[in-house]
Amino acid sequence: MHVVVLGSAAGGGFPQWNCNCHNCLRVRQGDSALTARQQSSIAISSDGERWLLCNASPDIRAQIAATPELHPRRGPRDTGIAEVLLMDGQIDHASGLLSLREGCPFDVWCTPNVHEDLSSGFPLFPMLEHWQGGLSWQRIGIDQEHHDARFEVPSCPGLVFTAVALTSNAPPYSPRRGSPTPGDNIGLLIEDTRDGRSLFYAPGLGLVDDETRAWLARADCVLVDGTLWHDDELQRAGVGRATGRDMGHLALAGEHGLLETLDALPESTRRILIHINNTNPILDEGSSERAELRRHDIEVSYDGMRITP
Ligand code: MLT
Ligand code: MN
Ligand code: ZN
Repeated sequence: MHVVVLGSAAGGGFPQWNCNCHNCLRVRQGDSALTARQQSSIAISSDGERWLLCNASPDIRAQIAATPELHPRRGPRDTGIAEVLLMDGQIDHASGLLSLREGCPFDVWCTPNVHEDLSSGFPLFPMLEHWQGGLSWQRIGIDQEHHDARFEVPSCPGLVFTAVALTSNAPPYSPRRGSPTPGDNIGLLIEDTRDGRSLFYAPGLGLVDDETRAWLARADCVLVDGTLWHDDELQRAGVGRATGRDMGHLALAGEHGLLETLDALPESTRRILIHINNTNPILDEGSSERAELRRHDIEVSYDGMRITP
């Protein structure tokens, strides 16, 4: 299985255009301890030729430009992106579909909840119908009764996907904002049937229950929510009032934080963070928080990172 990190930052990116927090200021000044990052997205492939885009970020145009595997090669109009899958219906994960309009039609895998939000509050599905038929919904069957769903995608033969309902939050334009239901956010276990290796991908993890813990423990490599170090980090940085809990992101530090969960995984599990908010002190390679991650054997993903689980 091939995995490319196209963007490792949370919504807003790093630096965020209107943010003057300590991290954003320093990366804008060229401080070499911090590296700019685009918004959260990865691409997965079984043959290295055809790619499943997991989340279409607003930075997709630059992300494709920076990734030779996704460039057109086989004809006058072409792309390495064969299909798209959405982990949720948030702007940072879905709005890049607008920039892919020249390549429509695209098959887009997502849950009924996400499809509903992207057909109403943020109507990408009906809008893009005006471009060569637009987006063809491929249903990921997670709803009130089904909390996980196994499926395969045509472009990635040999890979088996299991979507797992996660507790995070629904987007602000969703009727379920503040009271999400199964299907608003998923994690993805991707198993390669050829070599038995597996990846668990979860850029939005609001709560780790026993079920989620068991899914994490099944994977050789976990690529998970590194949004915040502290739950009240936006307040500490003076840039906002929302807590991690409000947004559906479990902070790394603190009692029952994500670090604790990652520590409890089998020793052989590779642990990598993604969807990192610009306020997070781990973005500074010289910070004590980054040193703590190193002590815990936890990596911080970066744009362009190649992962072989
Ligand atoms: C989130 O992950 O909570 C959202 O993407 C935040 C946002 O960018 O609006
Ligand atoms: Mn996000
Ligand atoms: Zn900032």
